[in-house]
Amino acid sequence: MTAPLRVGIVGCGNVALNFHLPAYLALPERFTVTALADPTPERLELGRTGAGLAPEQVHGDAFALIAREDVDVVDVCTPQHLHRDLVVAAAAAGKHILCEKPLAATPADAAAMVEAADAAGVVLGVVHNYLFFPEIIAARNLIDDGAIGEVRTVAVDMLGVVDSPGAAGYRPQWRHDPAAAGGGVLMDMLHGVYLAEHLVAEPVERVSAHVDTATPGDAVEGLALCRLETAHRAALVNIGWGFGPGGIRINGSKGRIVLRYRDDGTIPWAPFEALHVTTDAGTETLDLPAGQELAPLIADALRATVADLADAVTAGRAPAAPGRAALHTLEATVAAYTSAALGRSVDIPLPADGPVHRHGVTGLAELDVPAASGVRRRALFGLTPAPTSTPAGS
Ligand SMILES: NC(=O)c1ccc[n+]([C@@H]2O[C@H](COP(=O)([O-])OP(=O)(O)OC[C@H]3O[C@@H](n4cnc5c(N)ncnc54)[C@H](O)[C@@H]3O)[C@@H](O)[C@H]2O)c1
Repeated sequence: MTAPLRVGIVGCGNVALNFHLPAYLALPERFTVTALADPTPERLELGRTGAGLAPEQVHGDAFALIAREDVDVVDVCTPQHLHRDLVVAAAAAGKHILCEKPLAATPADAAAMVEAADAAGVVLGVVHNYLFFPEIIAARNLIDDGAIGEVRTVAVDMLGVVDSPGAAGYRPQWRHDPAAAGGGVLMDMLHGVYLAEHLVAEPVERVSAHVDTATPGDAVEGLALCRLETAHRAALVNIGWGFGPGGIRINGSKGRIVLRYRDDGTIPWAPFEALHVTTDAGTETLDLPAGQELAPLIADALRATVADLADAVTAGRAPAAPGRAALHTLEATVAAYTSAALGRSVDIPLPADGPVHRHGVTGLAELDVPAASGVRRRALFGLTPAPTSTPAGS
């Protein structure tokens, strides 16, 4: 029996205190939380009391936590534009890392994190927690068993995403800041991107997309309609804040799988309702446990995520979502923004010396984005609309 891994959590915001900390506390044989860090005093104190830690175990400066000898795993739960420096420092200190999604706000940051973990020989796992939802595991098993033949297309609809603010004591609206979030609803819910790729079961190579605001004047998109192409297959990923429909449909050469959520709502706000498999033999409804409401569903998936990380560390194997896979998901997501801005398909990986690889969506301003592009006309991601020309003689 190996000793519990000693975890230091960096960032005591909503996801850390509502889901990460409870996941570790629920698995005392696998983890001991030995330290927390957050520069926002009220969040740090909330975390300290929740974890039952002494004042000397909590830090306003995350780098003091990373330097602690009694930390084996650094769990990074800050907004994504802050992930890079923390993960690179943790890797250099020889710590294993669990990092929240998206891995970073820019592909360049994500690539630096992957390189740092590889160079240090530490595990870098990313919280792609929707991979652990029971109906997703069941759907992927059916695909792997050949239940619907060869997968041709996957459609992931998440058009009823709730626009949840961040913790009140910090910057509740950071998800609407392109530099901090790296995008809007698509970046926040890139869960849909990795789920689509997981179910289409082939790496995404090319992306095209349309994006729009949900609220006029917002600096980030609130709607993204994406097409992800693989060598032989394609997926459609539609994500938006609002009240649109949700659900997942998988189209195979010999049948289809349809995942339905309550009132045709969006995963994970609408609990899973049924998984139907249709072939020429008819339609079968898989016998799965009733779907859970949002909080217990995410709590279970976070416990599975941290347990998977512990297994990866102790067995020396890759976690469910290694850093390199999360970098690829981020590239596909950033490629969608690039496509929407330029009005054409975009191949991944993105050129490493290009502005979008280096700066994410804020790098779009350095590209030749046409005046007619919806991204420019709506002044998304810091782009400025082209001046309206005045007809000669008027
Ligand atoms: N996997 C999921 O289902 C899921 C769900 C929610 C959020 N997230 C991800 O988790 C991350 C955090 O999201 P959130 O909703 O908890 O945000 P939040 O705004 O609620 O919390 C962010 C916290 O980070 C702290 N912080 C800021 N700078 C810091 C620094 N330098 N060092 C340490 N702490 C710092 C803030 O004080 C705040 O407490 C994001 O990357 C988000 O995408 C993932």
